[in-house]
Amino acid sequence: MAFNIRTKIKDLLVREVTNQGVIVMGWVRTFRSNRFIALNDGSTINNIQIVVDFENTDEALLKRITTGACIKVSGQLVPSVGSGQQVEIKADTIEILGDSDAEKFPLQPKKHSLEFLREIAHLRMRTNTFGAVFRVRNTLASATHEFFQGRGFVYWNSPIITASDAEGAGEMFRVTTLPIDGSAPRTDDGSIDFSQDFFGKSTNLTVSGQLEGELGAMAFSEIYTFGPTFRAENSNTTRHLAEFWMIEPEMAFYDIEDNMNLAEAYIKFLIKAALERNADDLKFLDDRLKEEEKSLPQDKRSELGLIEKLEFVLNNEFERITYTEAIDILRNSTPYKKKKFQYDVQWGIDLQSEHERYLVEKHFKKPVIVTGYPAAIKAFYMRMNDGCEPGKETVAAMDILAPGIGEIVGGSQREERYDKLIARMDAMGVPTHEMEWFLDTRRFGGCPHSGFGLGFERMVQFVSGMTNIRDVIPFARTPKNCEY
Ligand code: 4AD
Ligand code: MG
Repeated sequence: MAFNIRTKIKDLLVREVTNQGVIVMGWVRTFRSNRFIALNDGSTINNIQIVVDFENTDEALLKRITTGACIKVSGQLVPSVGSGQQVEIKADTIEILGDSDAEKFPLQPKKHSLEFLREIAHLRMRTNTFGAVFRVRNTLASATHEFFQGRGFVYWNSPIITASDAEGAGEMFRVTTLPIDGSAPRTDDGSIDFSQDFFGKSTNLTVSGQLEGELGAMAFSEIYTFGPTFRAENSNTTRHLAEFWMIEPEMAFYDIEDNMNLAEAYIKFLIKAALERNADDLKFLDDRLKEEEKSLPQDKRSELGLIEKLEFVLNNEFERITYTEAIDILRNSTPYKKKKFQYDVQWGIDLQSEHERYLVEKHFKKPVIVTGYPAAIKAFYMRMNDGCEPGKETVAAMDILAPGIGEIVGGSQREERYDKLIARMDAMGVPTHEMEWFLDTRRFGGCPHSGFGLGFERMVQFVSGMTNIRDVIPFARTPKNCEY
């Protein structure tokens, strides 16, 4: 007989019919008074209470019901007499599926710091906080597919190993099978001879699936990728991972405005899905954030609670401004005038996170879409805006900035005009001879098209209210850190 004949705790907790036999399996959170087990199986943040008839239960078995142990319980689902829950289970039999030595199990039934839990990331998903975060993450992943599938987009897989540098940023992890002890083959000029490497050329982990995504869009009109991307940038911040997941839709026949509309609708769809499907998790995370912010000075605390913030974002239009307007707002701001910004503000700079945060958190107090960035600070594939003042060329870029996060989406209308694209690649030193395949999209039936990339972990941060990106991915990869 199959083993798995249990009911998930989430389903039991909402069951209206009681006094029936049920089987549950899960991990013990607490066991108090030798009588009440709080059991969790990850299907919900809520535990089910198991009532043990300890007088008729073997002493040795009782001792094995410890925090962290995995058990199977058969019993009767009954209305609960105690407060705090509708139903509970009167245990008939309890079976230990896996012991957990209470002395050694690192998760004690008390509050642990996020820093401590990061050290035991292989167990932290068994806590309320991380259970909630990863269930929210799951909802956002599922809702991503629902959103794009619902609009007829084709799910498209760009390669993980690639020979191109999509962003031209050069912060890539090299992929090679050549020896690293100095004995790798060399060319006449002394450089490493990658023609003898596994792929016969120099390769790396992808920083973005966009360029291959554009090829897909030129066939299916609308595609989206959802995969891991890698950046070897040495940024030890609460917003950067070396391995992160990105959703990159790419659409033929979209201009920058269509692109913004899609991105805003997508973000709202994700928020709505989480509010609907993760009410208990978000309530917990909301309370947790309020608790955490108690130790902060008043002006550092969020004005809105987590759920209030999500509802606000869902129900209000994102602000849309140009880069030039953003610079004007910043130069007229109090922190600028009082020299509180660390970085100077003038037309042409890349907006620093302090600037982005001022715009969304202090000035507009909502997500902001910034368009029309200077061409010089953006990638080669972005479409040149027509009619720019010489020296003030801008591109049809759009970044979405979110409160507490900063940049959550980066995208643009793409340069579909072959000559302009080549000129830009030459100017930026992007090797055109290695990218003939990409240029073919402009040679053979090119069209106006657009796309964007949403940083999945930053979105999970936004929805869960977690302040450190290391806490929204199961196994974070950051500089000097690659456990598991
Ligand atoms: O702005 P980025 O670099 O844009 C691209 O890669 C484009 N090719 C996307 C496209 O148009 N298809 O990255 C997109 C998003 C950022 O807005 C940010 O949310 C996230 O990816 N991101 C990171 N998230 C975590 N850790 C990092 N190191 C990240 N770098 C970018
Ligand atoms: Mg960007």
